[in-house]
Amino acid sequence: MILVTGGAGFIGANFVLDWLNQSDEAIINLDLLTYAGNLENIAGLAADARHTFVRGDIGDSALVTELFARFQPRAIINFAAESHVDRSIHSPEDFIQTNIVGTFRLLEAGRAYWNGLNGKAKQNFRFIHVSTDEVYGSLGKGEPAFDETHCYEPNSPYSASKAASDHLVRAYHHTYGLPVITTNCSNNYGPYQFPEKLVALMIVNALAGKPLPVYGDGQQIRDWLYVKDHCSAVRRVLEAGVPGETYNVGGRNEKPNIDIVHTVCTLLDALRPLIIGSYHALITFVTDRPGHDRRYAIDASKIERDLGWKPAETFETGIHKTVQWYLDNPAWVSNVQSGAYRTWLEKNYEGRS
Ligand code: NAD
Ligand code: DAU
Repeated sequence: MILVTGGAGFIGANFVLDWLNQSDEAIINLDLLTYAGNLENIAGLAADARHTFVRGDIGDSALVTELFARFQPRAIINFAAESHVDRSIHSPEDFIQTNIVGTFRLLEAGRAYWNGLNGKAKQNFRFIHVSTDEVYGSLGKGEPAFDETHCYEPNSPYSASKAASDHLVRAYHHTYGLPVITTNCSNNYGPYQFPEKLVALMIVNALAGKPLPVYGDGQQIRDWLYVKDHCSAVRRVLEAGVPGETYNVGGRNEKPNIDIVHTVCTLLDALRPLIIGSYHALITFVTDRPGHDRRYAIDASKIERDLGWKPAETFETGIHKTVQWYLDNPAWVSNVQSGAYRTWLEKNYEGRS
């Protein structure tokens, strides 16, 4: 079995669902269920014996040590993190705790477990750390896309905390030989994304008739990847990645934010037309994010060449599926918006040991 952390969040939940669609290998899913963790994302697995959910903190060494000992996973895949740049600007402390201290404690528990393994189990064990392209900083117009040798120049408390975690992961390989692999991926979009991130926020705000807030001039560029393609890259890295290596993951889909917002509006105009007018009219330019990185772009040649990975979706097919998913799942959207998913959580966990 494998141990997945953060598997009730956006990418982690997609990973867990896709994994169990394609394999009978069991998953232990460790997630603290912060505001970003939503058990409704994995509600379909409630009666699935291959999936064990554990509510807990990656920084809880005793718990993680116990999970390693009890379940003897062949790998750990670390998705758990505080992941939203704007929140890191308002309250960076949580990012330091989870992304740095939490990853450190996970590495320590993983190292102790791995040291106790023998033979093939020890040789085959993997610690996969899921990271971001934001650790590389911001690109100027015309500069080549980030490859794995690009220097680290993080600009937000979020990206600085992820950079620190990447450095710790690297050091645990270099110093202790722990078989770690880090992936650095570009912006994801798709089902189950919490509506604080651009694509999800624009869809749910538009459906509610609310303004679509575009930071600054809207010309910041991100490199967009459909979440299930990120998940397939992580599976491929687990299968064939080389310990100690890092792999950049991206879809070669560089687009300015304003184009993303217009695309969402155009799709909604076609799929859920308004009686009068267009969703485009909701677009509102607002004050920019402090320290806003101008451009990210990923050079994914290494994972394409060495591991034969490539995305299945184009931006056009992926964004169409995404908008359609939000239209098809109004209950998920309204529970997230009203906060009902949290109330349900408290009710569900009240009185449990
Ligand atoms: P998310 O915020 O949607 O989910 C994070 C999950 O981690 C939540 O379920 C949350 O409850 C859980 N969590 C937070 N702190 C925890 C802790 N201390 N212990 C256990 N669980 C905890 O994030 P996401 O967008 O799914 O991102 C997942 C990972 O992928 C993150 O490491 C992020 O840095 C990375 N990443 C994200 C993107 C993107 O575009 N979203 C792109 C590249 C890399
Ligand atoms: O690049 C990978 C990263 O992508 C991940 O590591 C992060 O976890 C993930 O949150 C994402 O970071 P961004 O800051 O790029 O994502 P976000 O969706 O917050 O913003 C995308 C772009 O859209 C960014 O340039 C800011 C802009 N934006 C965002 C919001 C929420 C707006 O213009 N308006 C908004 O309301």
